[in-house]
Amino acid sequence: MEKIILNGKEITIRKLAPKDLKDAKKFADYINDLIEEDVYLSVNKKYSLRDETVFLKSQIEKIKKKNNVFLVAETEKKIIGVSSIDRMNGKQGHIGLFGISIAREWRRIGLGTFLIAEIFEMAKNGFDPSIKMITLDVIAKNEPAIHLYRKMGFKKVAVLPKYFRHRGELLDIVVMNLYL
Ligand SMILES: CC(C)(COP(=O)(O)OP(=O)(O)OC[C@H]1O[C@@H](n2cnc3c(N)ncnc32)[C@H](O)[C@@H]1OP(=O)(O)O)[C@@H](O)C(=O)NCCC(=O)NCCS
Repeated sequence: MEKIILNGKEITIRKLAPKDLKDAKKFADYINDLIEEDVYLSVNKKYSLRDETVFLKSQIEKIKKKNNVFLVAETEKKIIGVSSIDRMNGKQGHIGLFGISIAREWRRIGLGTFLIAEIFEMAKNGFDPSIKMITLDVIAKNEPAIHLYRKMGFKKVAVLPKYFRHRGELLDIVVMNLYL
């Protein structure tokens, strides 16, 4: 666990842990706020407490087996950001799928940058066998995210045209990779 100060506010950065199962509601509230905001995330249906518990359980199992690393940023008992890398299955097991989100009122203060740097550190010994590459999908229009990913070393490798429906529009997706 680590405490950082951003914009004068103290933020706790820590790993997802089994005790979080008792607080699944906090995680459901966090993701449901993002869904309500209608950010560029593929999930479009709000999470019930049960959905969130199932999700957290699966992540915790994967962490135990060294197939996942998962960081939580929180303040005053509220989740304000998450980032994870999840090992892909079978013959794609050398690849980790990256994800990040920050709560609306906590963006643009460097939290995304901090979480990515931290999760890269965790990835170094959080996987057994180690992963060789981190990949992500991002909506081509999501300029803040693309800017952040480039800054952290991801390179664009492909564009998937009209791969994402958002507010009635079909949008392109950019695939970005980082080789470890
Ligand atoms: C994308 C996201 C994770 C960025 O997190 P963040 O904490 O705001 O990022 P940071 O504050 O560390 O900023 C990183 C860089 O992006 C820039 N940036 C962030 N938001 C920006 C915006 N809206 N417009 C322009 N630049 C922006 C910052 O200026 C900074 O650039 P710099 O380091 O060169 O000065 C956050 O906006 C988010 O969660 N969005 C909604 C969910 C989402 O889109 N997730 C990604 C799905 S692929």
